[in-house]
Amino acid sequence: MTSYELLCRDPSSAARRGRLQTRRGPVETPAFMPVGTQGTVKAMLPETLQELGAQILLGNTYHLFLRPGHERIARLGGLHRFMHWDGPILTDSGGFQVFSLGKLRKIDEAGVRFQSHLDGSAQVLTPESSIAIQQALDSDVIMVFDECIPYPAERAYVADSTARSMRWAARCKAAHQPDGSALFGIVQGGMHADLRRRSVEELLAIGFDGYALGGLSVGEEAALMYQVMDWTLPLLPDSQPRYVMGVGTPENLVEGVRRGVDLFDCVMPTRNARNGVLFTHFGRLSIKQARYQDDAGPIDPACDCYVCRHYSRAYLRHLYQCNEILAAMLNTHHNLHYYLGLMARMRQALEQGRFAAFCQDFYQRRSSAET
Ligand code: GUN
Ligand code: ZN
Repeated sequence: MTSYELLCRDPSSAARRGRLQTRRGPVETPAFMPVGTQGTVKAMLPETLQELGAQILLGNTYHLFLRPGHERIARLGGLHRFMHWDGPILTDSGGFQVFSLGKLRKIDEAGVRFQSHLDGSAQVLTPESSIAIQQALDSDVIMVFDECIPYPAERAYVADSTARSMRWAARCKAAHQPDGSALFGIVQGGMHADLRRRSVEELLAIGFDGYALGGLSVGEEAALMYQVMDWTLPLLPDSQPRYVMGVGTPENLVEGVRRGVDLFDCVMPTRNARNGVLFTHFGRLSIKQARYQDDAGPIDPACDCYVCRHYSRAYLRHLYQCNEILAAMLNTHHNLHYYLGLMARMRQALEQGRFAAFCQDFYQRRSSAET
């Protein structure tokens, strides 16, 4: 039921324009997925997300399992109805959050035992339970349960963890019940070319509907992240979608697309918005700075979003200083407009055979304009 169609390629790079068909409709790629961890993209109405061009949202197994519980969400008609979003949803497996949020984690072959970050209660996630939870949520794109390896890490640990994640991936595939949802494998292997290669080979032997790169944006230099993409992406089949998890900055998206990535997710546009950091075509801007208190201009003169059409930097700085709810709403709106717009411009540049010129322009605006 899920398929990927390659529509066109950039002659000067590995970039590609495609379409991921899900059981809840198409996703034009390359695409960015706003993060809706708790069944909401913070500070945004689903209708507005749609207007901004969001095609698919990301949800989190770890959070929804602990609260309000996947069984409750299933009884209430599934995650789409629960949050009033009828487009596609991709769910992460918990394999990242359990390591970043869970306390007293104990990892063994069976899975992970941990204490809830909410109430300290003892909990377990296994490859089988993660898939069952994601299916109860009625996710359209399900991720395998894995370990996101910290960085830096001993090579021996990376090798053992990756081998275990690949055995877990096989269990996830066996546990996935056919319901039209897609199941994506996650490549691990840390920052080692040979371990990444082996991870790809093991996932390909199992066979998935798409392949993600995990274990990136964990504190490594951007150059090393691009190096891992360069090692790994060419090993993946052209005929299937590639997703880089938890990435990244606008530059990371352009560099990922250039290397053949189709899907991205990141909390950066939404979280930074709530911290007063705004993305513009000339780089980042911190709205809390005193220099904006009398600035009647918009966040980004080149932006045509609702916020930039109606509100000044001075007003947005004021809202931020007062910790007003509207600050989070307007800042998030602008940042998601920027991220989703960036992806739309990349798709259009690919269709029109001018992706190289797009990249040049993208970097030029950042270096020439003062921030
Ligand atoms: N999100 C960011 N990185 C990862 C990863 O390695 N695994 C999972 N499951 N989610 C992630
Ligand atoms: Zn704007």
